Amino acid sequence: MEQGKKTILSGIQPSGDLTLGSYLGALKSWVELSEEYNCYYMLADLHSITVRQVPADLRRRTLTQVAVYVAAGLDPEKNVLFVQSHVPAHAELAWVLNCYTMFGELSRMTQFKDKSAKNAENINAGLFTYPVLMAADILLYQADLVPVGADQKQHVEICRDIATRFNGIYGDVFRLPEPFIPRSGARIMSLTSPEHKMSKSDTDPNGCVYLLDKPEDIMRKFKKAVTDSDTERCVHYDPAAKPGVANLMTIYSVATGKSLDEIEAEFSGLGYGAFKPRVGEAVVELFRPIREETDRLLQDKAYLEGICRAGAEKASCAAERTLRKVYKKVGFAAR
Ligand code: TYM
Repeated sequence: MEQGKKTILSGIQPSGDLTLGSYLGALKSWVELSEEYNCYYMLADLHSITVRQVPADLRRRTLTQVAVYVAAGLDPEKNVLFVQSHVPAHAELAWVLNCYTMFGELSRMTQFKDKSAKNAENINAGLFTYPVLMAADILLYQADLVPVGADQKQHVEICRDIATRFNGIYGDVFRLPEPFIPRSGARIMSLTSPEHKMSKSDTDPNGCVYLLDKPEDIMRKFKKAVTDSDTERCVHYDPAAKPGVANLMTIYSVATGKSLDEIEAEFSGLGYGAFKPRVGEAVVELFRPIREETDRLLQDKAYLEGICRAGAEKASCAAERTLRKVYKKVGFAAR
């Protein structure tokens, strides 16, 4: 880790194949910030089991996700890429922080309310204390910045609250992190129900575009994307009145670097029939190099496992330093 650089920690759950939402909301920023910061990028598998997983699928997706991180541009020599369950300090600090987090504040988490509504048959304690584990992830590395999509902002805020409470009792143990939320692409919506967030666990496969989808599947999904009943079929940015079109414009804007005004001008008078396939093509081109490189990397499982091993070693080193300090502060006897 380079002296003088600030630190980033972020993670993505390997609970489903990565989506256009996870790419634009998080992974893209990770790559952009990776030169300027010392970065710890995690595969949040401990978080994934708050919802039932098929074990073999979880294992397979974890290794694929490592390949995607590298294929998207994260150099494993310059960034610490690691699997959360390989670094025991995450679970250990989470337990300590559980004792400094209030039932009431966890009850207010909107993601807990949403997820427990979706998984009514399995509202387990892990789903409830999930933000505490996320706080442990961030605080272990004394992260300055946490690049995430808009849906994770509340979790970074509770992390700051927990850290402030702990520091208030024991002195300056934890650095307070700031969320980093991209200006555009922080909340990509489903293509079939644009009032809902695009999600890995989407039950409608047409609503969600996966990073490793084949080009023909991406094109089909964009051609079918829900727009609105505007008779002029005008490509105009108005998220309240035209959420489907606004979402497609955001995707096109982030994929091509064009501004919303430029996009309105480009499709003026052309209607949705011309617009939707162009968005699809832009996403196909955005993902093509990542998909091809991921396929190539997946041929070399030993290389990917090596990245995880080296990453876990480096991450453990930093995490243990914080954990030891915490154990001492709370009064645990020396080992
Ligand atoms: P997860 O796995 O649900 O999502 C990974 C990242 O992608 C962002 N994201 C989106 N952004 C824009 N539009 C969308 N439709 C969209 N869907 C997902 C998320 O905001 C997130 O940044 N709890 C985290 C994982 C985690 C973590 C951490 C993150 C565990 N520990 C510590 C930061 C720091 C999660 O479930 O993300």
